[in-house]
Amino acid sequence: MNLPDMNEARKRTRTKPEFIYKDFVNNDKFLGQKYFIKTYGCQMNVHDSEEICGLLDNLGYIQVEDETQADLIILNTCAIRENAHDKVFGFLGRCKHQKKDNPNLKLVLCGCMAQEKSVVDEIMSKHKYIDLVFGTHNIHELPNYLMELDGKQHIEVKSNEGNVFEVGESYKRESKYTAWVNIMYGCDKFCTYCIVPYTRGKERSRKSKDILKEVSCLKEKGYKEVTLLGQNVNAYGRDLEDDLTFAQLLEEVAKTGIDRIRFVTSHPWNFTDEMIKTIAKYDNIMPFIHLPLQSGSNRILKLMGRRYTKDEYLELYNKMKKEIPGVAITTDIIVGFPNETDEDFEETLDVVNQCKYDGAFTFIYSPREGTPAARMEDSIPMEVKEDRLQRLNEVVNKYSNENNQKYLNTVQKVLLIGYSEKDKNKLYGYTETNKLVNVICDQKELGNIIDVKITEAKSFSLDGEAI
Ligand code: 5AD
Ligand code: SF4
Repeated sequence: MNLPDMNEARKRTRTKPEFIYKDFVNNDKFLGQKYFIKTYGCQMNVHDSEEICGLLDNLGYIQVEDETQADLIILNTCAIRENAHDKVFGFLGRCKHQKKDNPNLKLVLCGCMAQEKSVVDEIMSKHKYIDLVFGTHNIHELPNYLMELDGKQHIEVKSNEGNVFEVGESYKRESKYTAWVNIMYGCDKFCTYCIVPYTRGKERSRKSKDILKEVSCLKEKGYKEVTLLGQNVNAYGRDLEDDLTFAQLLEEVAKTGIDRIRFVTSHPWNFTDEMIKTIAKYDNIMPFIHLPLQSGSNRILKLMGRRYTKDEYLELYNKMKKEIPGVAITTDIIVGFPNETDEDFEETLDVVNQCKYDGAFTFIYSPREGTPAARMEDSIPMEVKEDRLQRLNEVVNKYSNENNQKYLNTVQKVLLIGYSEKDKNKLYGYTETNKLVNVICDQKELGNIIDVKITEAKSFSLDGEAI
């Protein structure tokens, strides 16, 4: 039994992470048993689930899409906002009843929620039917944990700063055309509202040689696109000795010749000129940047610990727009941070009106236990926050639509990655600027980058035809 510890999770020492190279061992211990996995949250979690699925397939498990058929149900959870909590326990509570028909059924909770002490306390007192809880630092131990399950509840959460596990190509990737590639783990920014530095450990980078090997291997397998993942990719390499900066890494990844390179997420602080130049220089680095604003008010930015002012953000934004031709920029915004005034909120709207983003994820602030902001008094009623969110969304959607209208009748390069949900005769894919397009074309084009004429532009997607 290992329980989460917020004090340990908060610690940052000078100790270097260990680099642990894992061999993948085949073991048919669970041959023919079925598993169902559901993933909440960010791309990092999606990619962690690809690792979990790879591990389970190697144990002989078969993945199913219907939880009622499963012998093992895993929820890979997100802790960023409170609303995921009810969904997760609602889902597991329903699955609990399946144990009557299938006494073999095991229920597992993993991911960021597992790293929260309050959640684990609740599981131990109220949700005894959950068989296994493991955290973000010990995914690779899952096979051992499964083999040790004995009917009792097992809690295996580590709150250390984290190491770097190299698992080679053992991921069961969701797509054959686009791949997630971790370049670093954790976060040391400690924005005052955010739980991530506690759930994912300290900022630690993979060695560039391991990243480049992974990208080359993906290219050889026919992948067209990689997305480099980190909570704040700008910080890549700062913890390594004699290795590359993020701009240099981007350049080396570009030189592998893979068709498309993306990266998420960039903190506006420390986004260097060299990074902008590199993005502009290489055709295979996509002109798309996700640049979280969070708030437009200097007072709130300071309380959030964001390390930039409104003007510094706008200066960076304008530089990107000027130097990277056709770049699309999206953002994240939080409304209703403790004691956000109408004037503070107007500052946020002002930035949105100046930047006219291609898109934005907008959130109502959600207090996360253990973070500094959760201890701040807050006098703003929820109705006011909801009203602000609605007003913000109206403005955000207006610009998203306006930006999309500019694509009408243009020809865009689209990487086709799947069958369109609404119309299976169409394929869908993304432009270089990350716009979703539903395309009328030969189905044989799946996995290719083709020229598409845009015939209709909506707020959140485009329609087009192959030319
Ligand atoms: N409340 C609301 N939104 C949050 N985010 C992170 N923490 C919180 C929180 N406590 C948002 C930020 C971040 C995105 C991934 O989630 O906007 O960029
Ligand atoms: Fe959270 Fe800030 Fe780190 Fe992003 S940069 S993960 S918002 S602490």
